[in-house]
Amino acid sequence: MAAPARDDVVTMDKIVALCKRRGFVFQSSEIYGGLASTYDYAHYGVLLKSNVKSEWWRAMVQERDDIVALDAAILMHPRTWVASGHLEGFTDPLVQCLGKCKKRWREDHLREAAAADGAGGGDPAAIAAEELRCPECGGELTEPRNFNLMFETYMGPVQEDAARIYLRPETAQGIFVNFKNVLQFARKTPPFGIAQVGKSFRNEITPGSFLFRTREFEQMEMEFFVAPDDAREWFDYWCEERRRWYDELGLRPDHLRLRDHDPQELSHYSSSTSDVEYLFPIGWSELEGIANRGDYDLRQHAAFSGEKLEYVDSATGERYFPHVIEPAAGADRATLAFLVDAYDEEEVEGRTRTVLRLHPRLAPVKVAVLPLVNKDGQPELAREIYKELRPLMPAEYDAGGSIGRRYRRQDEIGTPWGVTVDHQTLEDGTVTLRDRDSLEQARVPRTELARELGRRLGDEWRSPKL
Ligand code: GAP
Repeated sequence: MAAPARDDVVTMDKIVALCKRRGFVFQSSEIYGGLASTYDYAHYGVLLKSNVKSEWWRAMVQERDDIVALDAAILMHPRTWVASGHLEGFTDPLVQCLGKCKKRWREDHLREAAAADGAGGGDPAAIAAEELRCPECGGELTEPRNFNLMFETYMGPVQEDAARIYLRPETAQGIFVNFKNVLQFARKTPPFGIAQVGKSFRNEITPGSFLFRTREFEQMEMEFFVAPDDAREWFDYWCEERRRWYDELGLRPDHLRLRDHDPQELSHYSSSTSDVEYLFPIGWSELEGIANRGDYDLRQHAAFSGEKLEYVDSATGERYFPHVIEPAAGADRATLAFLVDAYDEEEVEGRTRTVLRLHPRLAPVKVAVLPLVNKDGQPELAREIYKELRPLMPAEYDAGGSIGRRYRRQDEIGTPWGVTVDHQTLEDGTVTLRDRDSLEQARVPRTELARELGRRLGDEWRSPKL
Protein backbone atom coordinates (compact mmCIF):
# COMPACT_ATOMS: atom_id res chain seq x y z
CA MET A 1 0.00 0.00 0.00
CA ALA A 2 1.19 3.52 -0.78
CA ALA A 3 2.44 5.70 2.08
CA PRO A 4 -0.14 7.88 3.86
CA ALA A 5 -0.62 11.15 2.03
CA ARG A 6 -3.36 12.97 3.92
CA ASP A 7 -2.68 16.27 5.55
CA ASP A 8 -5.86 16.64 7.61
CA VAL A 9 -6.71 15.72 11.18
CA VAL A 10 -8.21 12.29 10.63
CA THR A 11 -6.41 9.09 11.65
CA MET A 12 -7.69 5.54 11.78
CA ASP A 13 -7.23 5.55 15.59
CA LYS A 14 -9.55 8.56 15.90
CA ILE A 15 -12.17 6.83 13.75
CA VAL A 16 -11.95 3.62 15.79
CA ALA A 17 -12.27 5.61 19.04
CA LEU A 18 -15.25 7.63 17.79
CA CYS A 19 -16.96 4.48 16.50
CA LYS A 20 -16.70 2.89 19.93
CA ARG A 21 -17.49 6.03 21.96
CA ARG A 22 -20.58 6.95 19.95
CA GLY A 23 -21.91 3.49 19.19
CA PHE A 24 -21.08 2.87 15.52
CA VAL A 25 -18.80 -0.18 15.65
CA PHE A 26 -17.50 -2.44 18.44
CA GLN A 27 -14.78 -5.06 18.45
CA SER A 28 -16.48 -8.43 18.10
CA SER A 29 -16.58 -10.71 21.17
CA GLU A 30 -14.81 -8.01 23.16
CA ILE A 31 -15.53 -9.51 26.58
CA TYR A 32 -13.51 -12.58 25.52
CA GLY A 33 -10.59 -10.46 24.41
CA GLY A 34 -12.01 -9.89 20.93
CA LEU A 35 -11.83 -11.94 17.74
CA ALA A 36 -9.17 -10.49 15.45
CA SER A 37 -10.45 -8.30 12.62
CA THR A 38 -14.12 -8.97 13.20
CA TYR A 39 -16.48 -6.19 14.17
CA ASP A 40 -20.03 -5.70 15.40
CA TYR A 41 -22.10 -2.76 14.21
CA ALA A 42 -23.83 -0.80 16.96
CA HIS A 43 -26.95 1.36 16.59
CA TYR A 44 -25.54 4.28 14.55
CA GLY A 45 -23.27 1.98 12.54
CA VAL A 46 -26.25 -0.18 11.57
CA LEU A 47 -28.18 2.91 10.45
CA LEU A 48 -25.21 4.38 8.55
CA LYS A 49 -24.34 1.14 6.73
CA SER A 50 -28.01 0.58 5.98
CA ASN A 51 -28.14 4.06 4.37
CA VAL A 52 -25.03 3.23 2.31
CA LYS A 53 -26.72 0.06 1.05
CA SER A 54 -30.01 1.89 0.39
CA GLU A 55 -28.18 4.47 -1.70
CA TRP A 56 -26.57 1.64 -3.66
CA TRP A 57 -29.96 0.02 -4.27
CA ARG A 58 -31.37 3.39 -5.26
CA ALA A 59 -28.62 3.95 -7.84
CA MET A 60 -28.63 0.37 -9.12
CA VAL A 61 -32.30 -0.56 -9.19
CA GLN A 62 -34.72 2.21 -8.19
CA GLU A 63 -33.43 4.84 -10.61
CA ARG A 64 -32.90 2.45 -13.56
CA ASP A 65 -35.00 -0.01 -15.45
CA ASP A 66 -32.24 -2.33 -16.68
CA ILE A 67 -31.16 -3.95 -13.37
CA VAL A 68 -33.05 -6.41 -11.15
CA ALA A 69 -32.36 -7.51 -7.58
CA LEU A 70 -31.32 -10.87 -6.19
CA ASP A 71 -30.53 -12.29 -2.74
CA ALA A 72 -28.87 -15.68 -3.19
CA ALA A 73 -27.90 -18.07 -0.38
CA ILE A 74 -24.46 -17.81 1.19
CA LEU A 75 -24.04 -21.59 1.02
CA MET A 76 -23.80 -22.85 -2.56
CA HIS A 77 -23.25 -26.16 -4.28
CA PRO A 78 -19.51 -26.93 -3.98
CA ARG A 79 -19.21 -27.41 -7.75
CA THR A 80 -19.83 -23.66 -8.04
CA TRP A 81 -16.33 -23.01 -6.71
CA VAL A 82 -14.73 -25.55 -9.01
CA ALA A 83 -16.42 -23.94 -12.01
CA SER A 84 -15.66 -20.38 -10.91
CA GLY A 85 -11.98 -21.19 -10.45
CA HIS A 86 -11.98 -20.24 -6.76
CA LEU A 87 -11.02 -23.69 -5.51
CA GLU A 88 -7.97 -23.68 -7.72
CA GLY A 89 -7.12 -20.03 -8.05
CA PHE A 90 -8.49 -17.98 -5.15
CA THR A 91 -5.21 -17.97 -3.30
CA ASP A 92 -2.75 -15.50 -1.83
CA PRO A 93 1.00 -16.12 -1.60
CA LEU A 94 1.72 -16.74 2.09
CA VAL A 95 5.17 -16.39 3.66
CA GLN A 96 6.11 -16.87 7.29
CA CYS A 97 8.86 -15.22 9.28
CA LEU A 98 11.70 -17.64 10.18
CA GLY A 99 13.10 -15.12 12.66
CA LYS A 100 11.85 -14.17 16.10
CA CYS A 101 8.23 -13.16 15.51
CA LYS A 102 7.03 -16.06 13.26
CA LYS A 103 4.38 -13.76 11.77
CA ARG A 104 2.64 -14.57 8.49
CA TRP A 105 2.55 -12.12 5.60
CA ARG A 106 1.21 -11.78 2.08
CA GLU A 107 4.25 -11.91 -0.14
CA ASP A 108 2.64 -9.69 -2.81
CA HIS A 109 2.04 -6.96 -0.18
CA LEU A 110 5.66 -7.16 0.98
CA ARG A 111 6.79 -6.83 -2.64
CA GLU A 112 4.58 -3.78 -3.19
CA ALA A 113 5.90 -2.11 -0.02
CA ALA A 114 9.53 -2.88 -0.96
CA ALA A 115 8.96 -1.56 -4.50
CA ALA A 116 7.45 1.63 -3.07
CA ASP A 117 10.75 2.05 -1.14
CA GLY A 118 12.69 1.75 -4.41
CA ALA A 119 13.62 -1.97 -4.45
CA GLY A 120 13.57 -3.70 -7.87
CA GLY A 121 13.67 -0.27 -9.50
CA GLY A 122 10.11 0.24 -8.22
CA ASP A 123 8.82 -2.92 -9.92
CA PRO A 124 7.42 -5.47 -7.40
CA ALA A 125 7.97 -8.37 -9.86
CA ALA A 126 11.66 -7.52 -10.25
CA ILE A 127 12.45 -8.05 -6.54
CA ALA A 128 14.18 -11.35 -5.73
CA ALA A 129 12.46 -13.42 -3.00
CA GLU A 130 15.67 -13.36 -0.89
CA GLU A 131 15.56 -9.57 -0.76
CA LEU A 132 12.30 -9.61 1.21
CA ARG A 133 12.46 -9.50 5.01
CA CYS A 134 9.89 -9.70 7.79
CA PRO A 135 8.55 -6.14 8.36
CA GLU A 136 8.13 -6.88 12.08
CA CYS A 137 11.55 -8.25 13.13
CA GLY A 138 13.67 -8.28 9.96
CA GLY A 139 13.83 -12.10 9.94
CA GLU A 140 14.18 -14.24 6.83
CA LEU A 141 11.02 -15.57 5.22
CA THR A 142 9.86 -18.99 4.03
CA GLU A 143 9.25 -19.72 0.36
CA PRO A 144 5.79 -18.46 -0.66
CA ARG A 145 2.99 -21.02 -0.51
CA ASN A 146 -0.39 -20.54 -2.11
CA PHE A 147 -3.08 -20.31 0.55
CA ASN A 148 -6.77 -20.67 -0.39
CA LEU A 149 -8.91 -17.93 1.15
CA MET A 150 -12.20 -19.82 1.28
CA PHE A 151 -13.60 -20.85 4.64
CA GLU A 152 -14.67 -24.49 4.68
CA THR A 153 -17.43 -26.11 6.63
CA TYR A 154 -19.50 -29.30 6.44
CA MET A 155 -23.13 -29.74 5.50
CA GLY A 156 -24.97 -32.29 7.62
CA PRO A 157 -23.78 -34.31 10.59
CA VAL A 158 -20.79 -36.09 9.05
CA GLN A 159 -17.50 -34.30 8.55
CA GLU A 160 -16.34 -36.04 5.38
CA ASP A 161 -14.95 -34.79 2.07
CA ALA A 162 -18.25 -35.35 0.29
CA ALA A 163 -20.02 -33.00 2.71
CA ARG A 164 -17.48 -30.17 2.45
CA ILE A 165 -18.91 -26.82 1.42
CA TYR A 166 -17.63 -23.25 1.47
CA LEU A 167 -18.74 -19.88 2.77
CA ARG A 168 -18.96 -17.78 -0.39
CA PRO A 169 -15.94 -15.54 -0.96
CA GLU A 170 -17.92 -13.27 -3.31
CA THR A 171 -21.62 -12.72 -3.93
CA ALA A 172 -21.12 -12.70 -7.71
CA GLN A 173 -21.39 -16.47 -8.20
CA GLY A 174 -24.94 -16.49 -6.78
CA ILE A 175 -25.81 -14.18 -9.67
CA PHE A 176 -24.17 -16.29 -12.39
CA VAL A 177 -25.83 -19.53 -11.30
CA ASN A 178 -29.21 -17.74 -11.36
CA PHE A 179 -28.65 -16.13 -14.77
CA LYS A 180 -31.08 -18.47 -16.55
CA ASN A 181 -33.78 -18.18 -13.86
CA VAL A 182 -33.63 -14.39 -13.93
CA LEU A 183 -33.62 -14.25 -17.73
CA GLN A 184 -36.82 -16.28 -17.79
CA PHE A 185 -38.85 -14.15 -15.40
CA ALA A 186 -37.42 -10.64 -15.82
CA ARG A 187 -38.08 -10.21 -19.57
CA LYS A 188 -34.71 -8.48 -19.98
CA THR A 189 -32.34 -8.56 -22.89
CA PRO A 190 -28.67 -7.57 -22.81
CA PRO A 191 -27.63 -5.02 -21.74
CA PHE A 192 -29.14 -5.74 -18.32
CA GLY A 193 -27.87 -6.36 -14.82
CA ILE A 194 -28.48 -8.36 -11.65
CA ALA A 195 -27.63 -6.69 -8.35
CA GLN A 196 -27.02 -8.26 -4.97
CA VAL A 197 -25.95 -7.22 -1.48
CA GLY A 198 -24.78 -9.78 1.03
CA LYS A 199 -22.13 -11.24 3.28
CA SER A 200 -18.93 -12.76 1.93
CA PHE A 201 -16.13 -14.51 3.80
CA ARG A 202 -12.40 -14.67 3.14
CA ASN A 203 -9.76 -16.17 5.36
CA GLU A 204 -7.49 -13.19 4.74
CA ILE A 205 -3.84 -13.72 5.73
CA THR A 206 -3.37 -10.13 6.83
CA PRO A 207 -6.70 -8.53 7.64
CA GLY A 208 -6.55 -5.13 9.30
CA SER A 209 -7.01 -1.39 9.23
CA PHE A 210 -10.33 -1.61 11.07
CA LEU A 211 -13.23 -2.25 8.64
CA PHE A 212 -10.99 -2.04 5.58
CA ARG A 213 -10.04 -5.71 5.39
CA THR A 214 -11.93 -8.21 7.54
CA ARG A 215 -12.67 -11.90 7.21
CA GLU A 216 -16.45 -11.42 7.20
CA PHE A 217 -17.78 -8.49 5.20
CA GLU A 218 -20.66 -7.32 3.07
CA GLN A 219 -20.43 -6.82 -0.68
CA MET A 220 -22.60 -4.82 -3.05
CA GLU A 221 -22.09 -6.43 -6.45
CA MET A 222 -23.77 -6.03 -9.80
CA GLU A 223 -23.18 -8.20 -12.86
CA PHE A 224 -24.08 -6.37 -16.07
CA PHE A 225 -24.61 -8.69 -19.06
CA VAL A 226 -23.84 -7.18 -22.46
CA ALA A 227 -23.28 -8.19 -26.09
CA PRO A 228 -19.56 -9.01 -26.52
CA ASP A 229 -18.91 -6.09 -28.88
CA ASP A 230 -20.33 -3.61 -26.36
CA ALA A 231 -18.23 -4.73 -23.38
CA ARG A 232 -15.52 -2.06 -23.64
CA GLU A 233 -18.05 0.77 -23.82
CA TRP A 234 -20.02 -0.51 -20.82
CA PHE A 235 -16.82 -1.02 -18.84
CA ASP A 236 -15.95 2.67 -19.30
CA TYR A 237 -19.54 3.64 -18.48
CA TRP A 238 -19.58 1.74 -15.18
CA CYS A 239 -16.16 3.02 -14.10
CA GLU A 240 -17.39 6.60 -14.39
CA GLU A 241 -20.83 5.84 -12.97
CA ARG A 242 -19.39 4.26 -9.83
CA ARG A 243 -16.85 7.06 -9.27
CA ARG A 244 -19.72 9.53 -9.53
CA TRP A 245 -21.77 7.64 -6.91
CA TYR A 246 -19.13 8.18 -4.22
CA ASP A 247 -18.66 11.77 -5.34
CA GLU A 248 -22.38 12.53 -5.10
CA LEU A 249 -22.53 11.09 -1.61
CA GLY A 250 -19.93 13.55 -0.48
CA LEU A 251 -16.48 11.97 -0.76
CA ARG A 252 -14.10 14.81 -1.60
CA PRO A 253 -13.03 14.59 -5.27
CA ASP A 254 -9.33 14.98 -4.37
CA HIS A 255 -9.65 11.84 -2.19
CA LEU A 256 -11.12 9.78 -5.02
CA ARG A 257 -9.56 8.39 -8.19
CA LEU A 258 -9.87 5.63 -10.78
CA ARG A 259 -6.84 3.40 -11.30
CA ASP A 260 -6.40 0.78 -14.03
CA HIS A 261 -4.93 -2.56 -12.94
CA ASP A 262 -1.58 -3.63 -14.39
CA PRO A 263 -1.80 -6.97 -16.27
CA GLN A 264 -0.10 -8.89 -13.39
CA GLU A 265 -2.69 -7.60 -10.88
CA LEU A 266 -5.70 -8.94 -12.77
CA SER A 267 -7.85 -11.65 -11.16
CA HIS A 268 -8.05 -15.04 -12.87
CA TYR A 269 -11.37 -14.11 -14.52
CA SER A 270 -10.71 -10.53 -15.60
CA SER A 271 -9.44 -9.07 -18.87
CA SER A 272 -9.42 -5.52 -17.50
CA THR A 273 -10.14 -3.99 -14.10
CA SER A 274 -10.20 -0.46 -12.74
CA ASP A 275 -10.43 0.36 -9.07
CA VAL A 276 -12.22 3.29 -7.57
CA GLU A 277 -9.62 4.23 -4.96
CA TYR A 278 -9.99 6.38 -1.88
CA LEU A 279 -7.26 8.19 0.01
CA PHE A 280 -7.65 6.40 3.36
CA PRO A 281 -5.35 7.37 6.25
CA ILE A 282 -3.34 4.24 5.22
CA GLY A 283 -2.87 5.69 1.72
CA TRP A 284 -4.63 5.25 -1.63
CA SER A 285 -6.53 1.94 -1.48
CA GLU A 286 -9.27 0.09 -3.34
CA LEU A 287 -12.84 1.05 -2.53
CA GLU A 288 -14.46 -0.83 -5.37
CA GLY A 289 -13.30 -2.85 -8.38
CA ILE A 290 -14.90 -2.64 -11.80
CA ALA A 291 -13.97 -5.71 -13.85
CA ASN A 292 -14.56 -6.88 -17.38
CA ARG A 293 -15.12 -10.59 -16.66
CA GLY A 294 -15.78 -11.41 -20.32
CA ASP A 295 -17.82 -14.60 -20.75
CA TYR A 296 -15.62 -16.55 -18.31
CA ASP A 297 -18.24 -17.24 -15.64
CA LEU A 298 -21.24 -18.16 -17.80
CA ARG A 299 -19.07 -20.42 -19.98
CA GLN A 300 -17.61 -22.16 -16.94
CA HIS A 301 -20.99 -22.72 -15.27
CA ALA A 302 -22.48 -23.95 -18.57
CA ALA A 303 -19.62 -26.44 -18.94
CA PHE A 304 -19.77 -27.69 -15.32
CA SER A 305 -23.57 -27.79 -14.94
CA GLY A 306 -24.52 -28.91 -18.44
CA GLU A 307 -27.13 -26.12 -18.60
CA LYS A 308 -27.42 -23.87 -21.63
CA LEU A 309 -26.51 -20.43 -20.36
CA GLU A 310 -26.27 -18.55 -23.65
CA TYR A 311 -28.60 -15.73 -24.52
CA VAL A 312 -30.65 -16.30 -27.67
CA ASP A 313 -31.67 -13.18 -29.54
CA SER A 314 -35.27 -13.85 -30.56
CA ALA A 315 -35.10 -11.38 -33.49
CA THR A 316 -31.92 -12.68 -35.15
CA GLY A 317 -31.68 -16.17 -33.63
CA GLU A 318 -28.10 -15.32 -32.67
CA ARG A 319 -26.85 -17.29 -29.66
CA TYR A 320 -24.01 -16.01 -27.48
CA PHE A 321 -22.59 -15.94 -23.96
CA PRO A 322 -23.05 -12.34 -22.79
CA HIS A 323 -19.94 -10.62 -21.48
CA VAL A 324 -20.05 -9.32 -17.94
CA ILE A 325 -19.06 -5.95 -16.54
CA GLU A 326 -18.95 -6.12 -12.75
CA PRO A 327 -18.86 -3.17 -10.36
CA ALA A 328 -18.02 -4.87 -7.03
CA ALA A 329 -18.12 -2.70 -3.92
CA GLY A 330 -17.77 -3.38 -0.20
CA ALA A 331 -20.47 -2.02 2.12
CA ASP A 332 -18.12 -1.97 5.12
CA ARG A 333 -15.25 -0.42 3.21
CA ALA A 334 -17.55 2.25 1.75
CA THR A 335 -18.95 2.95 5.24
CA LEU A 336 -15.39 3.39 6.51
CA ALA A 337 -14.56 5.77 3.65
CA PHE A 338 -17.67 7.87 4.35
CA LEU A 339 -16.77 8.01 8.06
CA VAL A 340 -13.16 8.99 7.36
CA ASP A 341 -14.08 11.62 4.81
CA ALA A 342 -16.76 13.13 7.06
CA TYR A 343 -14.51 13.39 10.12
CA ASP A 344 -13.46 16.90 11.04
CA GLU A 345 -12.22 18.85 14.03
CA GLU A 346 -12.51 22.62 14.37
CA GLU A 347 -12.04 25.30 16.99
CA VAL A 348 -15.32 26.84 18.15
CA GLU A 349 -15.20 29.43 20.93
CA GLY A 350 -11.90 28.09 22.23
CA ARG A 351 -12.94 24.42 22.23
CA THR A 352 -12.28 21.67 19.73
CA ARG A 353 -15.45 20.44 18.09
CA THR A 354 -15.42 16.98 16.51
CA VAL A 355 -17.99 16.66 13.78
CA LEU A 356 -18.99 14.08 11.19
CA ARG A 357 -19.97 16.04 8.11
CA LEU A 358 -21.90 13.11 6.65
CA HIS A 359 -24.10 13.74 3.63
CA PRO A 360 -27.68 14.04 5.00
CA ARG A 361 -28.68 11.02 2.89
CA LEU A 362 -26.17 8.94 4.86
CA ALA A 363 -26.52 10.50 8.30
CA PRO A 364 -28.02 7.94 10.74
CA VAL A 365 -30.22 10.62 12.36
CA LYS A 366 -31.47 13.60 10.35
CA VAL A 367 -32.75 15.78 13.18
CA ALA A 368 -32.34 15.95 16.96
CA VAL A 369 -34.95 17.67 19.13
CA LEU A 370 -33.57 19.10 22.37
CA PRO A 371 -35.22 21.06 25.19
CA LEU A 372 -32.85 23.84 26.28
CA VAL A 373 -33.52 23.07 29.93
CA ASN A 374 -35.16 20.09 31.54
CA LYS A 375 -38.05 22.06 33.12
CA ASP A 376 -40.71 24.75 32.50
CA GLY A 377 -42.69 22.56 30.09
CA GLN A 378 -39.82 22.47 27.56
CA PRO A 379 -39.26 18.66 27.64
CA GLU A 380 -42.97 18.02 27.08
CA LEU A 381 -43.13 20.39 24.11
CA ALA A 382 -39.88 19.05 22.65
CA ARG A 383 -41.22 15.49 22.90
CA GLU A 384 -44.37 16.55 21.08
CA ILE A 385 -42.30 18.04 18.25
CA TYR A 386 -40.11 14.94 18.14
CA LYS A 387 -43.20 12.75 17.79
CA GLU A 388 -44.41 14.91 14.90
CA LEU A 389 -41.09 14.65 13.06
CA ARG A 390 -40.35 10.98 13.74
CA PRO A 391 -42.69 9.54 11.07
CA LEU A 392 -41.18 11.90 8.48
CA MET A 393 -37.47 11.26 8.99
CA PRO A 394 -35.09 9.53 11.42
CA ALA A 395 -35.21 11.78 14.48
CA GLU A 396 -33.93 11.66 18.04
CA TYR A 397 -35.02 13.26 21.31
CA ASP A 398 -32.35 14.03 23.89
CA ALA A 399 -32.84 15.76 27.22
CA GLY A 400 -29.86 14.36 29.15
CA GLY A 401 -26.99 16.68 30.19
CA SER A 402 -26.08 20.23 29.24
CA ILE A 403 -27.18 21.56 25.85
CA GLY A 404 -23.50 21.88 24.83
CA ARG A 405 -22.85 18.21 25.55
CA ARG A 406 -25.96 17.17 23.67
CA TYR A 407 -24.91 19.17 20.60
CA ARG A 408 -21.40 17.67 20.79
CA ARG A 409 -22.95 14.21 20.80
CA GLN A 410 -25.14 14.99 17.78
CA ASP A 411 -22.18 16.54 15.92
CA GLU A 412 -20.16 13.38 16.51
CA ILE A 413 -22.88 11.12 15.12
CA GLY A 414 -23.29 13.46 12.14
CA THR A 415 -26.86 14.74 12.71
CA PRO A 416 -27.29 17.56 10.15
CA TRP A 417 -29.95 19.55 12.04
CA GLY A 418 -30.79 20.29 15.65
CA VAL A 419 -34.05 21.76 16.93
CA THR A 420 -33.97 23.49 20.31
CA VAL A 421 -37.07 24.26 22.33
CA ASP A 422 -36.51 27.18 24.72
CA HIS A 423 -38.52 29.68 26.77
CA GLN A 424 -39.33 31.68 23.63
CA THR A 425 -40.94 28.60 22.08
CA LEU A 426 -43.52 28.63 24.86
CA GLU A 427 -44.16 32.33 24.23
CA ASP A 428 -44.25 32.66 20.43
CA GLY A 429 -44.19 29.08 19.11
CA THR A 430 -40.80 29.36 17.36
CA VAL A 431 -37.85 26.95 17.75
CA THR A 432 -34.18 27.34 16.83
CA LEU A 433 -32.98 25.26 13.92
CA ARG A 434 -29.21 24.69 14.05
CA ASP A 435 -27.14 23.62 11.06
CA ARG A 436 -24.38 21.12 11.89
CA ASP A 437 -21.85 22.48 9.39
CA SER A 438 -22.33 26.25 9.37
CA LEU A 439 -23.53 26.35 13.01
CA GLU A 440 -26.10 28.90 11.85
CA GLN A 441 -29.21 29.09 13.99
CA ALA A 442 -32.51 30.27 12.56
CA ARG A 443 -35.78 30.80 14.38
CA VAL A 444 -38.53 28.86 12.68
CA PRO A 445 -42.23 28.68 13.64
CA ARG A 446 -42.94 25.27 15.01
CA THR A 447 -45.77 24.90 12.50
CA GLU A 448 -43.25 25.42 9.65
CA LEU A 449 -40.62 23.05 11.02
CA ALA A 450 -41.59 19.86 9.19
CA ARG A 451 -41.88 21.75 5.90
CA GLU A 452 -38.51 23.51 6.43
CA LEU A 453 -36.71 20.26 7.29
CA GLY A 454 -38.36 18.54 4.34
CA ARG A 455 -37.18 21.38 2.10
CA ARG A 456 -33.60 21.17 3.42
CA LEU A 457 -33.55 17.40 3.12
CA GLY A 458 -35.04 17.64 -0.37
CA ASP A 459 -32.41 20.20 -1.44
CA GLU A 460 -29.62 18.00 -0.15
CA TRP A 461 -31.11 14.92 -1.74
CA ARG A 462 -30.08 16.03 -5.17
CA SER A 463 -27.16 18.29 -4.36
CA PRO A 464 -23.80 16.68 -5.10
CA LYS A 465 -22.09 18.38 -2.17
CA LEU A 466 -23.02 19.84 1.18
N1 GAP B 1 -16.68 -10.32 -7.36
C1 GAP B 1 -15.49 -9.57 -7.45
C2 GAP B 1 -14.87 -9.31 -6.15
O1 GAP B 1 -15.25 -9.90 -5.15
P1 GAP B 1 -13.01 -7.94 -4.99
O2 GAP B 1 -12.20 -6.77 -5.50
O3 GAP B 1 -12.26 -9.09 -4.42
O4 GAP B 1 -13.93 -8.36 -6.20
C3 GAP B 1 -14.92 -6.36 -4.19
O5 GAP B 1 -14.03 -7.41 -3.90
C4 GAP B 1 -14.98 -5.38 -3.04
O6 GAP B 1 -15.34 -6.07 -1.85
C5 GAP B 1 -13.66 -4.69 -2.71
O7 GAP B 1 -13.45 -3.56 -3.54
C6 GAP B 1 -13.88 -4.27 -1.26
O8 GAP B 1 -14.65 -3.09 -1.19
C7 GAP B 1 -14.73 -5.44 -0.74
N2 GAP B 1 -13.84 -6.39 -0.04
C8 GAP B 1 -13.12 -7.40 -0.59
N3 GAP B 1 -12.45 -8.07 0.36
C9 GAP B 1 -12.76 -7.48 1.54
C10 GAP B 1 -12.36 -7.70 2.89
N4 GAP B 1 -11.56 -8.70 3.24
N5 GAP B 1 -12.87 -6.87 3.85
C11 GAP B 1 -13.72 -5.86 3.54
N6 GAP B 1 -14.10 -5.61 2.26
C12 GAP B 1 -13.63 -6.39 1.28
